[in-house]
Formats: sequence, structure tokens, C-alpha cells
Amino acid sequence: LTLQSDSADRAVRLAALDQRTQGCTSCRLSQSRTQIVFGAGNPETDLVFVGEGPGRDEDLKGEPFVGRAGQLLDKIIAAMGRRRSDVYICNVVKCRPPENRTPLPDESAACNPFLAEQLAILAPRAIVALGKCAAQVLLATDEPISRMRGRFFAYRDVPVMPTYHPAYLLRNPAAKRPVWEDMQKVMQLLSGSSSNG
Ligand code: URA
Repeated sequence: LTLQSDSADRAVRLAALDQRTQGCTSCRLSQSRTQIVFGAGNPETDLVFVGEGPGRDEDLKGEPFVGRAGQLLDKIIAAMGRRRSDVYICNVVKCRPPENRTPLPDESAACNPFLAEQLAILAPRAIVALGKCAAQVLLATDEPISRMRGRFFAYRDVPVMPTYHPAYLLRNPAAKRPVWEDMQKVMQLLSGSSSNG
């Protein structure tokens, strides 16, 4: 198998998974969504950001992180010397929770097979868990985000860096500094030599 066919395979497999999410009625969020927000970005990326769930703007557009928090995430990605188009962005739940509330445990559990397969296909070298919900779901823990951020954990052998959610940064600009420190650790990890290209 060549590297090229391997990466083409990722795009095809992600598109197939996206297709399989369409029409999902596994949880109550399916009743209030406008559309499923599967995820977006480069299927061959080394870096994946996982948020909580689509908000109003995302639900209308069908793309993750396109509202105010998304604009701040774009700045974080740019500060890392990357572009949105060369990373991949998705959420714990693919449908908008009413009033942007945090997904309930049964909702994140219902969506988890999609997230798990998405991350297995992407097989990134690092995952950034944006906020408490993503960190707690990926790492199956109740630890507060303030205690987890800044250190790498593992999700199926992939290093996970929990950090504060961009929406939290909008309300607490002082938390931008620790997030930048966290992202520098991710950049350092990714600058190391890769074992699988
Ligand atoms: N917040 C999230 O967690 N995800 C989005 O896609 C948008 C806002």
C-alpha cells in the first residue's frame, strides 16, 4: 500500500462515516437539529481539535466552530503556524444541544461510536480536547479541566492535550496565556520526527 492510497483512503472512509451519520436518531438531539455537523478539515492531518457540540451558527452552517468561539479557535490555530484547512475539527456530539447546553451523558454516549471511528480513521499524532466536555469524554474521567490542562493524556495511544474551550476564553481572557502554553507543548510534540510519515 502506498502512502498516497492510504491518505485517499482516509478521505473516503471519513466521507462514508459522514454518510452513515446522516439521518441518525440515536438520541434526542436529532429532534431539534437543523443538520448534523460531522467535522471538517484535512483528513491527512496530524492534529485534531475536539470541541463539545455545534452551537447555533454551526447548526445552521453545518460546519464546526464557525461562530465567535470558532473565530478565536482560528486565531489559536494561526498562532500555532497552522491553518484551519490543514488541521481537522470536530465535536463530541454532532447535533446542536438546545440552548447550547452541555451534552448530557447519554447524548455523548450515543454519539461516541461516530467520534471514536472518526478519530480512528484520522489517526492523528495529537488531539487537543477543547474544554471540560471533550476532555472528560475522551479520557473517561470526571477531573476538572483546570486540573487536566497542560499535560498529555492518551486516547487509544494518541496524545491528548486538554485545554480551555475558546468560548471560556471569550469570557476569561486571562486564560489565553495557559492555552498558549498548552498549544506550545502540542507544537513541540508535533515538531518531533514522525514514525509513520
Ligand atoms: N463550540 C463547540 O464546542 N463546538 C463548535 O463547533 C462550536 C462551538
